[in-house]
Amino acid sequence: MNLLVKDSRSIVTLEGTAPVRGAAFGDIEVRPGGSISCDEGRIVSVGRADTGTDAIFDAEGCTIIPGLVDCHTHLPFFGWRADEDAARLSGVRYEDIHGRSGGIFRSAALLAEASDEQVIAFSARLALQMLRSGTTTFETKSGYGLSVEAELRQLRLARKLADKVPQRVVTTCLAAHAIPEGKDQGQWIGEAANDLLPAAAAEGLCSAVDIYVESIAFALEHAARLAEAAKAAGLAMRVHADQLADNQTAAFATRWGFRSADHLNHSSLDAVDDLAASDTAAVLLPGATFTLRQAAKPPARALIEAGAIVALGTDLNPGTSPIASLPLAMALGCRLYSLSPMEALVGATVNAAYVLGLENEAGRIESGLAADLVILDAPSFEHLVYRPDADHIVAVIRDGDVAYLRPGSEPRLAR
Ligand code: NIG
Ligand code: FE
Repeated sequence: MNLLVKDSRSIVTLEGTAPVRGAAFGDIEVRPGGSISCDEGRIVSVGRADTGTDAIFDAEGCTIIPGLVDCHTHLPFFGWRADEDAARLSGVRYEDIHGRSGGIFRSAALLAEASDEQVIAFSARLALQMLRSGTTTFETKSGYGLSVEAELRQLRLARKLADKVPQRVVTTCLAAHAIPEGKDQGQWIGEAANDLLPAAAAEGLCSAVDIYVESIAFALEHAARLAEAAKAAGLAMRVHADQLADNQTAAFATRWGFRSADHLNHSSLDAVDDLAASDTAAVLLPGATFTLRQAAKPPARALIEAGAIVALGTDLNPGTSPIASLPLAMALGCRLYSLSPMEALVGATVNAAYVLGLENEAGRIESGLAADLVILDAPSFEHLVYRPDADHIVAVIRDGDVAYLRPGSEPRLAR
């Protein structure tokens, strides 16, 4: 099937090399309008209109950006924790809620009690909300299982969700998120490395492994053990790093060749240099900073200026970031971390695709890549960051198919 998106006002292609870092930011140009031709799910030309199409989308007056890529979410999960948020707003710390019955343990219990159908229905609704806000690719994770069987169940649910939603879904095994009851850290890391990761890899359930390094969770020696097991299983390694304190985790991630180090609220300027000199992406999650009202912010400007690979995600989860919208996360990245709108867009497209190992597949508007497009009823892409809660998005295209059409926009689409 062919699709022609015609006569747009401007196109932010982000074409060129991926990821974008350092001087490459200076080369980004916004194309003045034109059309995009798609065939068999791929982009075949940008700028001119090819004929002979099955469907035509009239993008007059619109700005086109690549489909957004959310490189860090905790889907699938089940249920919310609004009371914990209210407690935090009255002064209780996240670390103090994280006990046997609160925080991650609470979400683990909610997941265990829910049926597969309930989890999929709950998570698919959030994926739909993400689609309407422009997300065409997202990461899913385990981490609310806390036993080998329950982690495998959550990974299988992630793959089931992938079959049900219009987006491209990549799955990470968050093998060490909280210390399971009745075990110590070393015991659980042994099980995760020896049993969970080989089983998950053999079943093709995930492409990466993640660990939460924090005083309330795991330490760098555990990250090293998991990294060895991940390597043996052919999986990329990621880490929740320096979110609540400086544990030297980002610097560690660069030395061990991790794909990404995420959060970074307390990462030092030393870690900035390490990240800039490495291919480990720095993933910024301002939704968690906003939700936890954290004063400590990642050294985002220093990271960009030193030439690190900077990406941005929602961290969608029921505890620290109940935020599904990448435009909102981008706006928070600009307001809280002083990113420019273009840096936020790059972080949520081409660089996020790099984090997920999809840099040759998604995140840019370029011939040969997947035809994943977001069509904005706005004169420039900056409106997305300027008015993040506005209903700018008229259509979302995934692999050349119209996956979402804003009610009232039907006349723009001729089949
Ligand atoms: O990315 N901090 C660790 N993991 C999540 C929160 C998980 C939760 O509270 O359920 C995060 O912030
Ligand atoms: Fe997270």
